[in-house]
Amino acid sequence: MSAEPLEIYLEEQDLGRSLREDVRVGLTADAKWLPPKWFYDARGSELFEEITRLPEYYPTRAERAVLAERAADIAELTGAKTLIELGSGSSEKTRLLLDAFTRRGGLGTFVPLDVSVSALRQSTEQIAQDYPGLRVRGIVGDFTRQLDRLPTGGRRLVVFLGGTIGNLMPAERAGFLRAMRDALEAGDRLLIGTDLVKDPGVVVPAYDDAAGVTAEFNRNVLRVVNRELGADFEPEAFTHVALWDAEREWIEMRLRAQRPMRVRVLDLDVDFAAGEELRTEISAKFRPEGIAAELAAAGFTGERFWTDPDGLFGVTLARAD
Ligand code: AVJ
Repeated sequence: MSAEPLEIYLEEQDLGRSLREDVRVGLTADAKWLPPKWFYDARGSELFEEITRLPEYYPTRAERAVLAERAADIAELTGAKTLIELGSGSSEKTRLLLDAFTRRGGLGTFVPLDVSVSALRQSTEQIAQDYPGLRVRGIVGDFTRQLDRLPTGGRRLVVFLGGTIGNLMPAERAGFLRAMRDALEAGDRLLIGTDLVKDPGVVVPAYDDAAGVTAEFNRNVLRVVNRELGADFEPEAFTHVALWDAEREWIEMRLRAQRPMRVRVLDLDVDFAAGEELRTEISAKFRPEGIAAELAAAGFTGERFWTDPDGLFGVTLARAD
C-alpha cells in the first residue's frame, strides 16, 4: 500500500504565526529563550539524525537496544490495531515495533505525527513501501496541540520515543500527559522513552560532542528564525553551551553571545549583552519512580519498565485507566 498524502494540520500560516509568537515572547523575556521545536527544519532534522550516530550520544542506541529486546512483548501486551507515533522524525527505531507487529499480525494502521514535513514525507513513503498491507497516514503537526485529532476506533498504542518528553517544561509535561490520557480510551496504551538520571560526565558530552554537530544543531534555530522571519542573527557569533542543572536534573542548551549584539526581528530590536545567553532547549532526565508518579497523576498505570543493559535509558509501557 502506498502512503496517503500527508494530512497537514499545521498549516504554513499557523506555523508562521506560532513561530512569530514564540519569538516575540521568548526574545522579549528577561531571560531569553526559544522553544526547541524550531530546530527541526530539513537541515535541523538532518543534523539531529547525525547526532544520533555520534559516539557521545547514547540515548538513541540505548533506546534501540530496549526496543530490539522488547518489541515482541510490546506487540503481544498491547495487541494494538493502530500505532500512533508522536514526534516521529525518521521513525527509524519504530521499525523494530512494526516488525514485531508484522510477525504477530493485527496492526492495520501506522500514524506518524511530526512538525517536520521533510522528515515525515521521507518516513511515510519508505515505511509504506517496506510494510505492504499497512495503512500509513502521516500527520504534520505539533504533538502538544494535535492530540484531539488522533484516529479513533480499535485498540491504540501511542509511542513517544527518544526522550522527547524531556524537552517539555515540567508543567507542560503534566498538561501534555493529561491531554494524552483524555485523547485515549481506557485500555489504550502509551509507550514512552525517557533518558535516565546518570553521571553528568556521561550526559554532558552527549550534548556537547567533540565534532561540534550539536553546536551546529543548536545554532540552526537562529538560521530558521533568520529565514522564516527575515531576522539578522549572526549564528557564528553565538557559542554553544550545554550545562547540567543538578537540582532540576536536566540538560540546558543555550547560545551565548560572544559580543554585544543588536538583532532585528519582526518589529523588535533585541539587544544581547556580551556573554548573554539564550536558552534553546531543556532535556530532562528521569528517575523510574518519578516517571511512574507523573503517569499516575495523568491517569495511566505503568505496566512495564525496561532499560538497556547499561541502565542508561528507560522505556515505560503504560495503560490508560
Ligand atoms: C529530540 C529529545 C531526542 O533532548 O536528547 C539532541 C534532542 N538536543 N541533542 C534530546 C537533542 C540536543 C533530543 N531529543
